[in-house]
Amino acid sequence: MKILVMGPPGAGKGSQSSKIVEKYKMPSISTGQMFRDAFNANESIGIEAMKFIKEGDLVSDDITNEIVRLRLTKKDAETNFLLDGYPRTVTQAVALDDLLEEMDTKLDAVINILSSHDVLFERMEQRRVCKVCGASYHLRFKKPVVDKVCDKCSGELYQRQDDTHESVKRRLEIYETKTKPLLDYYSKQGILYNVNGMQSFDAVYEDIILVLDEI
Ligand code: AP5
Ligand code: MG
Repeated sequence: MKILVMGPPGAGKGSQSSKIVEKYKMPSISTGQMFRDAFNANESIGIEAMKFIKEGDLVSDDITNEIVRLRLTKKDAETNFLLDGYPRTVTQAVALDDLLEEMDTKLDAVINILSSHDVLFERMEQRRVCKVCGASYHLRFKKPVVDKVCDKCSGELYQRQDDTHESVKRRLEIYETKTKPLLDYYSKQGILYNVNGMQSFDAVYEDIILVLDEI
């Protein structure tokens, strides 16, 4: 199964993707997480990307397409993969379709998690993320057992540089102008499935599984 999880920033893409990949045993490929990992490892691509990320802007299509090409052509992505947060522009979507055609394959489904802007602001401003494994928490809805410590790996929890009010505002504007047009792109391909993201974690997950078990 080859799937893409879409939705505005803070919709729950990462939270749901981590459960989906556990169930279906597939690699999760999150461009945002790849950039953050590269930044934390002091790699030049991560340092360059973070200049854009912290302002809430997109990283260039060329850089993003290239890191995805390198990742998707690895052996573990041959039969199954989940893409989280890529593509985000029409240029990226066309590049992905070209790459998949080269690989003689295609996407099976695009899950679009819907949410209102009010909910998204609250989710991102209260989010905390593990520095080591990237697991995501929420100070109200998904508190770690021990304050500031990851339940999964005991890593330190921090607030993402792009979770400030100004940066979230910018990310939402960019989502509306550059990423939302992709919904039409995938709807025309007949592979778009909308899921209500303004429910509990489990209810959103159940709705996604209903879709994935049918395809
Ligand atoms: P990325 O890391 O992908 O960020 P994003 O798209 O802005 O989305 P988020 O990760 O913020 O939110 P999410 O939907 O994963 O929500 P989460 O599950 O964490 O990208 C970051 C940046 O990298 C981009 O802005 C850009 O600069 C760059 N980038 C990445 N990909 C790129 C690309 N393709 N092209 C160019 N640039 C790119 O949940 C959010 C919070 O809500 C958490 O606290 C969570 O616990 C809570 N929550 C989730 N679901 C629920 C629920 N059902 N109920 C209650 N709380 C919930
Ligand atoms: Mg995410």
